Amino acid sequence: MMAQQAHRMQMLVNDLLTLSRLEGSPLPGTGDWLPAEHLLAQAREDGEQLAASLGKKLALRVLPAPDAAIAGAPVELQSALSNPVGNAVRYTPAGGSIEVDARLLPAGRLAFDVRDTGPGIAAEHIPRLTERFYRVDRSRSRETGGTGLGLAIVKHVVQRHGGELRIESAPGAGSTFAIELPASRVRVTPAGTPARPATESAAG
Ligand SMILES: Nc1ncnc2c1ncn2[C@@H]1O[C@H](COP(=O)(O)OP(=O)(O)OP(=O)(O)O)[C@@H](O)[C@H]1O
Ligand SMILES: [Mg+2]
Repeated sequence: MMAQQAHRMQMLVNDLLTLSRLEGSPLPGTGDWLPAEHLLAQAREDGEQLAASLGKKLALRVLPAPDAAIAGAPVELQSALSNPVGNAVRYTPAGGSIEVDARLLPAGRLAFDVRDTGPGIAAEHIPRLTERFYRVDRSRSRETGGTGLGLAIVKHVVQRHGGELRIESAPGAGSTFAIELPASRVRVTPAGTPARPATESAAG
């Protein structure tokens, strides 16, 4: 039990350090371009690893990424995507499914979505989820080992990149976390055709 508590304390300190570092550091530049595909692939790996470590059987599906890249801080962007995937894995009961995708939006923006078939979240909690230490169900969260800082970090990272975090959820209807990034940080990569079937034919 002491080892477990020490581990939790370590995670808490790490998350707090991450937050204070984010607050003190200049806005991420636009020099590094990360393929959306890489962010999705890493999020898949992180999600699968977490599910395996929890011994939880879930269907984790990652859709093909559009040919696009994002400008920003690689470690921050990865944590902004992997974190909601981690939540989906933690809070979705075994047997459920999780879907992750990236899609190009009108006017050159791009969104990452993380959808799950988990318990969903009541409306009154949704605006508060990104507050530090806020958790919907304290006893459930304690079982699943969170610190309540994850989404605070995600929101911070997304805002530093000029984007927005949108949360759609209802009890019994699962949850969707969408990270929308501004056109200034999105580049459609050379071939130019977004990899999604719906737009592929139109672009040919
Ligand atoms: N996909 C989801 N389905 C249901 N509830 C969720 C989901 N994602 C987040 N939540 C709720 O929002 C709360 C806040 O999430 P957040 O990621 O900020 O903290 P956490 O997961 O408790 O801890 P950690 O700091 O380890 O991420 C969670 O405790 C949980 O109650
Ligand atoms: Mg979390």
